[in-house]
Amino acid sequence: MAKEATIDTLLEEERIFYPPEEFTRQANVKSKEIYAEARANPQLYWAMQAERLDWFRKWDRVLEWNPPFAKWFVGGKLNACYNCVDRHLKSWRRNKAAIIFEGEPGDSRVLTYWDLYREVTQFANVLKELGVGAGDRVAIYLPMIPELAIAMLACARIGAPHSIVFGGFSAEALRDRINDAGAKVLITADGGWRRGKIVSLKDNADAALSQTPTVEKVVVVRRTGQEVNMQEGRDLWYHELMAKAPVGCPAEELDSEHMLFILYTSGTTGKPKGVVHTTGGYLVGVSTTHHMVFDIKDSDVYWCTADIGWITGHSYVVYGPLANGTTTLMYEGAPDWPAQDRFWAIIEKYGVTVFYTAPTAIRAFMKWGRKWPAQHNLSTLRLLGTVGEPINPEAWMWYYENIGGGRCPIVDTWWQTETGMIMISPLPGITPLKPGSATVPLPGVEADVVDKEGNPVLLGEGGLLVIKEPWPAMLRTVYGDDQRYIETYWARFKDKGYYFAGDGAKRDYHNYYWILGRVDDVINVAGHRLSTMELESALVDHPWVAEAAVIGRSHEIKGQAVAAFVTLKARAFEELKAAKRSFKEIEGELKAHVAKKIGAIARPDDVFLTAELPKTRSGKIMRRLLRDIAEGRVLGDTTTLADPAVIAELKAKYEARE
Ligand code: WT7
Repeated sequence: MAKEATIDTLLEEERIFYPPEEFTRQANVKSKEIYAEARANPQLYWAMQAERLDWFRKWDRVLEWNPPFAKWFVGGKLNACYNCVDRHLKSWRRNKAAIIFEGEPGDSRVLTYWDLYREVTQFANVLKELGVGAGDRVAIYLPMIPELAIAMLACARIGAPHSIVFGGFSAEALRDRINDAGAKVLITADGGWRRGKIVSLKDNADAALSQTPTVEKVVVVRRTGQEVNMQEGRDLWYHELMAKAPVGCPAEELDSEHMLFILYTSGTTGKPKGVVHTTGGYLVGVSTTHHMVFDIKDSDVYWCTADIGWITGHSYVVYGPLANGTTTLMYEGAPDWPAQDRFWAIIEKYGVTVFYTAPTAIRAFMKWGRKWPAQHNLSTLRLLGTVGEPINPEAWMWYYENIGGGRCPIVDTWWQTETGMIMISPLPGITPLKPGSATVPLPGVEADVVDKEGNPVLLGEGGLLVIKEPWPAMLRTVYGDDQRYIETYWARFKDKGYYFAGDGAKRDYHNYYWILGRVDDVINVAGHRLSTMELESALVDHPWVAEAAVIGRSHEIKGQAVAAFVTLKARAFEELKAAKRSFKEIEGELKAHVAKKIGAIARPDDVFLTAELPKTRSGKIMRRLLRDIAEGRVLGDTTTLADPAVIAELKAKYEARE
């Protein structure tokens, strides 16, 4: 199982799966020469890829690189919405399904490219009517429904950068993101469906909106239909606005470097970073990689299961697929609702051909058992993908056999919110696969594994993953904070000019990359990035808590789970004791507090109350030892501890817990 998939077992993986001949014969990329071509002249390579888009004006220069600030396709003018919608209307694709939507309750909608054009231009007119213009930020807090894609594209059409906040985030998280971006309008819904229950998005939005001075108008999509509060003069129903909005709205001719969106992601500090992506380079990056990695054809029904609230959804549910004129499937709800075969039922219902999901989901499917996929006809599938965390070879093999029927290549794609596009991945027609390895960097991507000084490490040795040359979909900055952009990504290897990804990696004797996970204070829970600092701040925000130390411990399904070690304030401890509150109750309250502060995804799996935390003589909490305890290992080096008795007692108590 997953917990045995340690770094060592991964690197012992020796199985190789060669691309089936029939696949190679029909593949979008058939020849390895593309790597050499891209390396010989990266700018020419990316300029050639940029030709896949429609430009109102071609660029004067491919790249302007003032490290670490990049401008791609300088002088070029284009519109992302035009590229995702309008240009497909000129061909037969006008009548092709752009979005297939499956709601959790079983409702379904298909929007052709023409339908999408109609709704997007109408909504662009709505936004303009509300006073939104180029450069104004629009916050979006919606479930996985077509209106989410429509809202994004409408923003892109008029040059208003969107900032999407995942529907699972809390009111406070939403508030902070709205305020950091200074959003003028919020687009939300009454609710969304999740495991048969309503997620009350509008209630959360209302709580956030009491502290968001920049928001002037709120557009509310009716999805779940329950009664919601509508504030007079501020809140407007989407369907009412749309009923009055005309079809047709010009797509702004935007500069290639015009900000397309901001997307917040957790870093090593408590405050999420607003990752900024711009129009030209981003769209070139995602359309190129979507075409090559997913081997996309016009006949495909392509399904990426990510929520659009994450970068995977931005790049590979919406922008990449639609720029390529693909049929992209959106599913609103949970994989186990109403039963644990929902995904397989969807694949069968729509004849999905390319399927992209996360290792954590695959591990859950494994646990639920092969009987669920076995009930469905999955023979339309021809290619599978994974993203978000390293995949253990057992899960890879299960996916390959039980979902792919032993005939579909699997593309394990390494990338980040910041990279915007897939960076390390097989090309399914030409790259032999090794279960657990993302294989090699894509053409036009220069990666390396280096030591602390930035020198390449030997094959087989662990090091830090870096990107050595700028790439078109790279983040341009942290919104409103160039300094943080420089410090987080570029300061570490300043002399070499390398981008530091925050991941550890190794390369094997075939030069294949094996991603070993984060080397900073970021933990990866079910493919979602959480910052230990952010979790700790949420805990100490609770009036009872004196100190908190959060670590990621390995978890069979989620990859990592959040474990918090907490000390209480003496006063609170006395009061809770007097009130006869049990440890269980207190721990439950603290878990709920974190969920309220950040969102349900951040709810700690364990909260462990302790009298003291292990510290060095200089007062630094030794999280490494807490990880040893939580993962049941022998304690590592304890010589720098101020008081070794603390850790011994903590370990004994932890092991004795129920
Ligand atoms: C971090 C980025 C954009 C993907 C969704 C998550 C980890 C991502 C892989 C992979 C091993 C992976 C890394 C990375 N990661 N894909 N195929 N193999 N690790 O985006 O939230 O920006 O997180 O996810 O640790 O740094 P994100």
